[in-house]
Amino acid sequence: MIGPLLEVRNLAVHIGGLVAIADMSFQVPEGRIVSLIGPNGAGKTTAFNVISGYMRPTKGRVLFDGADITGLPPERIATRGLVRSFQRTSVFAGCTVLENALIALHGRGRAGLLGALLRAPAQRREEARLLAEAHSMLDFVGLAARADTPAEVLAYGEQRRLGIVLAAIVSPRLLLLDEPAAGLNPSETQAAMELIQKLRDRRMTVLLVEHDMAMVMQISDSICVLNQGRIIAEGSPAEIRQHPEVISAYLGSGHWEGADAQA
Ligand SMILES: Nc1ncnc2c1ncn2[C@@H]1O[C@H](COP(=O)(O)OP(=O)(O)O)[C@@H](O)[C@H]1O
Ligand SMILES: [Mg+2]
Repeated sequence: MIGPLLEVRNLAVHIGGLVAIADMSFQVPEGRIVSLIGPNGAGKTTAFNVISGYMRPTKGRVLFDGADITGLPPERIATRGLVRSFQRTSVFAGCTVLENALIALHGRGRAGLLGALLRAPAQRREEARLLAEAHSMLDFVGLAARADTPAEVLAYGEQRRLGIVLAAIVSPRLLLLDEPAAGLNPSETQAAMELIQKLRDRRMTVLLVEHDMAMVMQISDSICVLNQGRIIAEGSPAEIRQHPEVISAYLGSGHWEGADAQA
């Protein structure tokens, strides 16, 4: 592929009289983990909403694999291989881990849920294929032993990891993760980080929004810093850590301490 997997070009989002994103441009090369960081209210979640089709921009373009996807509905964008996870956990509590995996896969299966109910032979074959795929993914991410566990029984960290797995199970080319480490303790954060790296190693490109600076510094190939709806810096973790504008944007927010501790 020539060019970046994702390109955001001069994006602006005005909500009522408020400028959520002023003018935002950045690129995500294929096969990388790129983090989008910035203080609260900088516009990170809004950017995710626009990129994944949940919100229309006031101005600007989103290009995925060279094609203009601006304003397409989320399902059409997901079909093209761009999938997001949500800031809160999106796991079905009443279902087991395996059932959650199957529901997520059915979103993509040609037969769909209706087919699962009708149980025509071709659809039964597809069921068997999806079941094998679900088991294989749970195995890959270290949740195989939990397959028959009701999701609500999982520890919080495991639930959050399952949320990532459910977004990743359709093998998107680009996975958008919104604060996957929010509320996790250090060992759960470590497990989430290893999971994200595993997904990258499985040829997924990852765009990450995360407040845990230690994690961002450790996991990212490159970092884009957003402040008041504009990208104020882009670079490697080492470059971003020393960037004067970044340090002043974060000063007093408390989010920078973890990064310093890591340095
Ligand atoms: N649906 C909305 N209605 C009104 N204001 C919003 C809405 N979504 C976001 N905003 C505003 O846009 C700005 C960016 O918010 P957001 O994208 O959530 O920031 P972040 O995720 O970086 O914390 C904030 O000032 C926020 O209050
Ligand atoms: Mg947010």
